[in-house]
Amino acid sequence: MPLHLIFFTLLLYLHIPASSAATDTILAGQTLGVNDKLISSNGRYALGFFETSRKSSGSTPNWYLGIWFNTVPKFTSAWVANRDKPIKNSTSLELAISHDGNLAILNRSSKSIMWSTQASITRNSTTAVLLSSGNFILANSLNLSEVFWQSFDHPTDTFFPGAKLGWDKVTGINRRLVSSKNSISPASGIYCTEIDPSGINQFWLAPLNSLVPYWSSGVWNGKYFASIPEMAAHSIFSSIFVSNDQEKYYTYNLEDETMVTRQVHDVSGRSKLFIWLKGSQDWVMIYAQPKAQCDVYAICGPFTICNDNALQYCDCMEGFTITSPEDWELEDRTGGCSRNTPLDCNISNKSTTHTTDKFYPVPCVKPPHNARKVEEAASTSKCAQACLNNCSCTAYSFSNSGCSIWNNELLNMRQLQCGGATNSNEETIYLRLSAKDIKSLKNNRGGFVIRIAIGTGFSALGLFSLFLLLMIWRNKRKSSDLILNGAQGSNGIIAFRYTVLQGATKKFTDQLGAGSFGSVYKGFINDSIAVAVKRLDGAYQGEKQFRAEVSSIGAVQHINLVKLIGFSCEGSKRLLVYEYMSNRSLDIHLFRNNSTILSWTGRYQIALGVARGLAYLHESCRDCIIHCDIKPENILIDASFTPKIADFGMAKLLERDFSRVLTTMRGTAGYLAPEWISGVAITPKVDVYSYGMVLLEIISGRRNSCTSCPGGGNADVYFPVHAAHKILEGDVGCLVDHILHGDVNLDEAELACKVACWCIQDDELDRPTMGQVVQILEGLVETTMPPIPRLLQAMAGSSHSTRS
Ligand SMILES: *[C@@H]1O[C@H](CO)[C@@H](O)[C@H](O)[C@H]1NC(C)=O
Ligand SMILES: *[C@@H]1O[C@H](CO)[C@@H](O)[C@H](O)[C@H]1NC(C)=O
Ligand SMILES: *[C@@H]1O[C@H](CO)[C@@H](O)[C@H](O)[C@H]1NC(C)=O
Ligand SMILES: *[C@@H]1O[C@H](CO)[C@@H](O)[C@H](O)[C@H]1NC(C)=O
Ligand SMILES: *[C@@H]1O[C@H](CO)[C@@H](O)[C@H](O)[C@H]1NC(C)=O
Ligand SMILES: *[C@@H]1O[C@H](CO)[C@@H](O)[C@H](O)[C@H]1NC(C)=O
Ligand SMILES: *[C@@H]1O[C@H](CO)[C@@H](O)[C@H](O)[C@H]1NC(C)=O
Repeated sequence: MPLHLIFFTLLLYLHIPASSAATDTILAGQTLGVNDKLISSNGRYALGFFETSRKSSGSTPNWYLGIWFNTVPKFTSAWVANRDKPIKNSTSLELAISHDGNLAILNRSSKSIMWSTQASITRNSTTAVLLSSGNFILANSLNLSEVFWQSFDHPTDTFFPGAKLGWDKVTGINRRLVSSKNSISPASGIYCTEIDPSGINQFWLAPLNSLVPYWSSGVWNGKYFASIPEMAAHSIFSSIFVSNDQEKYYTYNLEDETMVTRQVHDVSGRSKLFIWLKGSQDWVMIYAQPKAQCDVYAICGPFTICNDNALQYCDCMEGFTITSPEDWELEDRTGGCSRNTPLDCNISNKSTTHTTDKFYPVPCVKPPHNARKVEEAASTSKCAQACLNNCSCTAYSFSNSGCSIWNNELLNMRQLQCGGATNSNEETIYLRLSAKDIKSLKNNRGGFVIRIAIGTGFSALGLFSLFLLLMIWRNKRKSSDLILNGAQGSNGIIAFRYTVLQGATKKFTDQLGAGSFGSVYKGFINDSIAVAVKRLDGAYQGEKQFRAEVSSIGAVQHINLVKLIGFSCEGSKRLLVYEYMSNRSLDIHLFRNNSTILSWTGRYQIALGVARGLAYLHESCRDCIIHCDIKPENILIDASFTPKIADFGMAKLLERDFSRVLTTMRGTAGYLAPEWISGVAITPKVDVYSYGMVLLEIISGRRNSCTSCPGGGNADVYFPVHAAHKILEGDVGCLVDHILHGDVNLDEAELACKVACWCIQDDELDRPTMGQVVQILEGLVETTMPPIPRLLQAMAGSSHSTRS
């Protein structure tokens, strides 16, 4: 999902055709110049010349003849005549009906034909018309039903309502969608949507000209395709599948003609459905297949790892770098990644048995399919040797099922969550690298050879928004002003009218809490969907920047982060709309006697979930986000007791004014790292510190700052210091919440205590990263005994040392 935001904004269209008297027809003898356009009689589509160019490079622009959405101000092409034959110079370019009756792009000065419909014309006089459906036809002038050529027979990447996907068995035409090459060029890319050529009544998504799909619709059952039962559930479309002697195709129509939709097989290899929301002036993606980006075949190219839980889902394998950063930037990742250092046996040409190449473990991955089994290699070392023996071998793995080796390019390697119960096909792959690369990797990572794994979370992406949008759409007529500005960005963040949120929250009466930045109220959208609406206090930045920040916060999605679903921005009012968490915040479960008791397992899962959420914010997002205000009040708990971090990205909304953040956070000083006070630069390690403090509270069930808590036997000692001493003494049992009555996994408790103590070290360099915390809590990495945090010790005075 990441880059689709900028997919079309990168398109530069220097020329916006100035319409003379708008017409939808070209008659024989008439021409359409570079600055003219045809407009369909319903005003929905326009046809003309447009250009694209890379923003930065000084390359000459490419010119195309195409159809775009005329009512959509953000230029979005839907069909291109000459996608693989761009025209370099627009001088004397024109569209006209040539002598043979075909429609052609001509060079007026040289009289050369640059593109033509190349149909066999059986009439002397033809006419071209842009129909209201978006179909551009060339027909007999005297009888427009006699069509010689139509753009619907030559689709590019967009599936128009009313167009057919499939075969005309009489003419042999196969209408299929082919994705674009990259995010600015409409040239043919590598993915294709087509009706299953093997004869099953379904359509599929596959690499171009491949017979192995990476997603298929399931068989048509008369109403919908088996894998898309959602089709039956909502009434945006009516779908038709036809199979007879003459043709076999799938088509659909919009139930609501006023709706502007766009169904496209885009560069990311996914088939996506967008709705144009007028007020917001933007496309909102409401549906995509396949659901997981990494299901798309070879989406990241060779020698990459695809990770559905990272915002940038493609990454190079260790020891490799992006082959063409320029193409990668434009979402064309066919070049993948290349080796930093060639393999030894390839350069030295010496006897393969003495190669210096080494192996680098990549844990928790789903390996490429095309493994070759080596039956005779019965141990890891023999398997490694089998790989070293062949210069084209690039990786091996050894598991219960024996030795597998891979030759040449590695495609479709996928990151899985380490230890994930559902991932039975999780393996460690040993990647062959030159000795030099192995060495530099070891130096870089301080011996850490385990990649960061993050919780699953993306599967639900967008579904909530889809649901919400459909609800809104259904009620459109009775509440047409529910959405002020539709939605912002294709990540599905909805812009609400202020009055709607005012109504939804019953004029902000049901207050859920008050935080550093404003108060939070419960509300119901469309009387049915519970949401939490946050009303921001004080003066904030202008509307445009606010929208940009909201959009970037909305793009950050993870199972352990509270999802932003919308906002409102009218005048000086700024509201944020979040998913509602039925189990409120962590402090209620930890510190209030009247709520249910959190079990040890529950606590450990919460600690792990919060660590994963923070690791995601710090390490996996496009811009590293420092939360700055981790405390139990900002950790919300959903119905299934999954922890979700709230209020991330607030520092950005405050224009990165950290001093303001600091002053507003004085109240939560117990969680503040020493560097907030000393004034050095703030790094993600401030969150690690706060996390350590929260972790101690999760273990003990009492506030660290509480000096007179009932129940604890050491009430006069600052708890974190007390805890650090007990850890050294090897006695963590006494630190765990007494309310659990010893029903505790002591190994986990010891691990959690050590982690907490490492996190609250004075020097940020001594603290682990959140990624390391996750690994330690997951038991993947061992940890050593932490020292006593000196600063805290000093703050707590000598009371403890005299006691112990
Ligand atoms: C059209 O022909 C002229 C003269 O031959 C040439 O200079 C111009 O570049 C051509 N235009 C295109 C679009 O090829
Ligand atoms: C296009 O062709 C015309 C005429 O040949 C020439 O004057 C002009 O410089 C060319 N433009 C570009 C961008 O090459
Ligand atoms: C086209 O016109 C020519 C004369 O102008 C006539 O001889 C011929 O039959 C016409 N062809 C068709 C297909 O109408
Ligand atoms: C127009 O063309 C259609 C399709 O070829 C044909 O069925 C119809 O009879 C024609 N109408 C006239 C008036 O010739
Ligand atoms: C590598 O070895 C092969 C066979 O021994 C030989 O044909 C080839 O020329 C050698 N290449 C180089 C670059 O030494
Ligand atoms: C290396 O493996 C490839 C692919 O299996 C095979 O074609 C080739 O013959 C092997 N080379 C050697 C030296 O075994
Ligand atoms: C060996 O080098 C050649 C060219 O330098 C390259 O095409 C080939 O892919 C390399 N083989 C391996 C296994 O790296």
